[in-house]
Amino acid sequence: MQIFEKIKDLQAFLAKESAKGSSIGFVPTMGALHEGHISLVKEAKKESELVVSSVFVNPTQFNDKKDLERYPRTLEQDTKMLAEAGCDILFAPSVEEMYPQTDTRKFDFGFLDNTLDGAFRPGHFNGVAQIVSKLFEAVKPDKAFFGQKDFQQVLIVKELVRQLDLKIEIVPCPILREPDGLAMSSRNTLLSPEERKQASNIPVWMKEAKQLFNGKNAEEVKKVIIEKVNSTPLFKLDYFEIRNADNLQEYNAPTDKHAVALFAAFCGRIRLIDNEVLS
Ligand code: PAJ
Repeated sequence: MQIFEKIKDLQAFLAKESAKGSSIGFVPTMGALHEGHISLVKEAKKESELVVSSVFVNPTQFNDKKDLERYPRTLEQDTKMLAEAGCDILFAPSVEEMYPQTDTRKFDFGFLDNTLDGAFRPGHFNGVAQIVSKLFEAVKPDKAFFGQKDFQQVLIVKELVRQLDLKIEIVPCPILREPDGLAMSSRNTLLSPEERKQASNIPVWMKEAKQLFNGKNAEEVKKVIIEKVNSTPLFKLDYFEIRNADNLQEYNAPTDKHAVALFAAFCGRIRLIDNEVLS
């Protein structure tokens, strides 16, 4: 696996590969890698000739300074995992490399950015769009792979690609989970043993929502699940919502085809998200 820290060096290498006709698959990450990230690399390998992954903790998408400070950084271990998964190129730039000057760009994603995580984390998706657009410009991939774990992020990135008129296919990939069902996340390592134990309630609630949704309407399901979260110690709920999976608007049965349940809560000091497609 080749490792690059500078955009120029990466681009010089990739230009040669593209000239040979190699298709490029791209997996952007913030590191502290786990099997969820690796599943994206494996999917990228299946669908492209050359796989590029990036590890960069992007400061502009953290609306909470403490969250940025305590975000785990494990580049040595990440490098090993990527090499073992068959990743061809690791791009691991510095903050100065990605942001030689302040990025003042303001994207407008409308409702997609005003709801759910966009509402609870002001500026978060603007920061995601800033870094993803810079990474896309550096890598110029044919396909880019994103986890459904960050359901809203996938919709935002698709909209970014549409607005910038990029010729990049966004490939959503399924959520990988721990044996107890908790969605894998770099932040899980920050949970105390007691918090980790309580966190295993999240996938239970999501499954229960799916079951209830068969017979009850969205409002009834929400009421049941929210009550359970609020009566579980250590949890502070940001939202539990059932939305139209295509645009995150309110879910209206029976006209809307796909429904998704979306969850975000603090478990102790650590904010966790999850989602489950219901129909
Ligand atoms: P990060 O949280 O490191 O996630 C990188 C990619 O891995 C994202 O597409 C995310 O959805 C996916 N992922 C994380 N956990 C997963 C799981 N359990 N199963 C499947 N996929 C999972 O998302 C980001 O970084 C950043 O916002 C980024 C896009 C890199 C921009 O900075």
